[in-house]
Amino acid sequence: MKAEKLLFAGADEYQATFAKAARDVAGIEFVAHEPGLDLTDIRYLLMWRPVPGLAKAMPNLKAIFCFGAGVERLLGSAEVPAQIPIVRMVEPGLTGGMVEYVLWQVLRHHRRIWELEEAQAAGKWAPHWYPAAWDRPVGILGFGELGQAAGEKLIEFGFPVRGWSRSKKSHAAIQCFAGPAELPAFLDGLEILICLLPLTPETKGILNVDLLGRLKPGASLINVGRGGHLIEPDLLAALASGQLIAASLDVFSQEPLPADHPFWRHPRIFMTPHNASDTDPAGGLGAIARQIARHQAGEEFEHVADRARGY
Ligand code: NAP
Ligand code: GLV
Repeated sequence: MKAEKLLFAGADEYQATFAKAARDVAGIEFVAHEPGLDLTDIRYLLMWRPVPGLAKAMPNLKAIFCFGAGVERLLGSAEVPAQIPIVRMVEPGLTGGMVEYVLWQVLRHHRRIWELEEAQAAGKWAPHWYPAAWDRPVGILGFGELGQAAGEKLIEFGFPVRGWSRSKKSHAAIQCFAGPAELPAFLDGLEILICLLPLTPETKGILNVDLLGRLKPGASLINVGRGGHLIEPDLLAALASGQLIAASLDVFSQEPLPADHPFWRHPRIFMTPHNASDTDPAGGLGAIARQIARHQAGEEFEHVADRARGY
């Protein structure tokens, strides 16, 4: 089968890596976006943020592939024609990276690593008590592709895991909750809460004083969804009152986080610069090549974002 052109309109710093990876992916001809490019025979576009005017200037565009799992920037953009499918990224590298990050941070909170670091800095030999993993309930808001993979890894480590989604799921080892009516039961008694929701009008601001107040006092928060999920002053208040003991944040309402933001210097906030997990170039392009092959065989794309649901 003839290779299909895929127009890369992502950040410049990723272009060379993706171009190199594309050489080993059958079915794709990698084309970097540049001014004046003839767009008439390019049917597939890969981007993260909308590029002004680009999608509408592609007369034969069939799909937009998103670099990541979260598609809120593309869905909310007038730059993206309404009839063009937006395909979310689902690939093993992105999932594996998120599983790794969630496990890393859950263990950090479970073992209260900061106490050991503070003791070491003070030259103190200070063994501390922590419960067994099976006495530490962990909840995952957003029990989709990434949430389920993370939950399954946490079970291997012995944590009792709960998942919350829009539609009810069933899982042999994970307690599943769905919808606003089951949210209080999901939150009740949780000691570590992970947010892996997409950002939609329904989930914006969900990590607020009311929700945080329903966790077990002294709980921890890990936000790897989007910064818009968190009401930042509510987190600071919950940490000040002791309702939360610590937080790990990978995403922020403003990125990069401004230099004067109080999160930078908070002793109980651990931060990473929105790279809990990234798409692996070879894995991502392989996933796109399979989607293009499906399309050419007359099948539907998989993982198409639903404009009405917002994810
Ligand atoms: P996904 O497979 O679409 O899963 C989303 C989950 O959220 C689904 O279980 C969905 O419920 C649930 N959900 C959505 N709206 C809800 C609502 N109103 N109430 C309850 N549950 C709701 O997405 P994914 O691939 O797991 O990715 C999730 C998010 O992770 C992305 O959107 C992105 O924001 C974030 N992310 C962050 C990074 C990072 O590096 N920080 C990397 C990748 C992804 P249903 O199952 O019923 O549809
Ligand atoms: C990263 O944030 C993603 O949505 O993949």
